[in-house]
Amino acid sequence: MTFDEIRGWLLETDPVQLESLWAAADRTRAENVGDQVHLRGLIEISNICRRQCLYCGIRAGNADIHRYRLTEDEVLNCARTAAKFGYGSIVIQSGEDSGLDAAWVAEIVRKIKTETDLAITLSLGERSDEDWILWKKAGADRYLLRFETSNARLFKAIHPSTAKNRNGSPIEPEEPRIEMLRKLRGLGYEIGSGVMVGIPGQSYTDLVRDLQLFRDLNLDMIGLGPFLPHPNTPLGQLFESDPETGTYKPGQPNEEQRLFFEKSDLPALSLKDQVSSSELLAFKMIALTRLLCPRSNIPSTTAIATIDGQNGRKLGLSRGANVVMPNLTPLQYRKDYEIYPNKAATQQTPEQTHEQVLRHLSEIGRTPGVGRGDSRVYAN
Ligand code: 5AD
Repeated sequence: MTFDEIRGWLLETDPVQLESLWAAADRTRAENVGDQVHLRGLIEISNICRRQCLYCGIRAGNADIHRYRLTEDEVLNCARTAAKFGYGSIVIQSGEDSGLDAAWVAEIVRKIKTETDLAITLSLGERSDEDWILWKKAGADRYLLRFETSNARLFKAIHPSTAKNRNGSPIEPEEPRIEMLRKLRGLGYEIGSGVMVGIPGQSYTDLVRDLQLFRDLNLDMIGLGPFLPHPNTPLGQLFESDPETGTYKPGQPNEEQRLFFEKSDLPALSLKDQVSSSELLAFKMIALTRLLCPRSNIPSTTAIATIDGQNGRKLGLSRGANVVMPNLTPLQYRKDYEIYPNKAATQQTPEQTHEQVLRHLSEIGRTPGVGRGDSRVYAN
């Protein structure tokens, strides 16, 4: 697909044409990764974060949430639950928590590997090479690090410098996440990345480049979802929900917000170029990701399940996705991992989330995956 063809799909509004896009993505999914839906149990082990990402509800600057870190026993119990539910893998995720001791994480990985057959994905942010090497040796299989946007200027604008980078030196100039992903692949990890769709200052051209970058990086896993404005973040305050379409649009910034926008490095876009953070656009991105990266593992993400609680997850799976990440975090911590508002499954126990996911699969005639669901990107 050429640049212009991809862009054309992103702007397509004709329902008949869109049906053909969904059908092509669904067919490509079935032919390349089959009908099984791999379940990855998500364990949010810490919401402590040193970063100030302008979009994220658990940014260091949000004083309104209670910070937690799970104990080793709590993490091991979540992993046991995943094994009991028959999942092939778990994803251990956290904020960029400098207090998360690398040896402690390694020990947990080792214990889970001894006790279960689960594949282990880590999603712990930017860490030192030494930590990544240690965790690989301990048995970790995969690493997730979203690059969030391929537009370097936009990336920089929404990720203000923090005091230290992942190696402990001042953060600028930052090693681009693309380089970190290549490094992680070199260390033997399956690598995953992804973007948000509808970031203020993000254009359709940016989204085309995101998709091309997914392809060029040969990603094993690609996660994406709509940007969902969080009220306790600088970017959240710039957006308003549109009750008619259920999408978020740039709001009418007040004086303070206007000054913030002006001082920031966010690209100033006309409304015509600004990508909306709509469910439809997220589905187009999933479908195009499937067409460009036929063998990648693509989740129907929590952000999509959040923007459309009834059908989001199922539609994602019917438009290119082949993975779901049911949340296994103990109920009492879920509300504190609110990276965006009204996050799906915040009021559920792991059992309830599990049952809901199984119900969604059966409603669309798909079955839970058997085995680890390893990447087929480099398979023969
Ligand atoms: N809206 C949508 N997605 C978000 N993320 C973080 N904050 C938001 C938000 N407000 C996504 C980022 C991050 C992933 C864990 O969640 O892409 O990498």
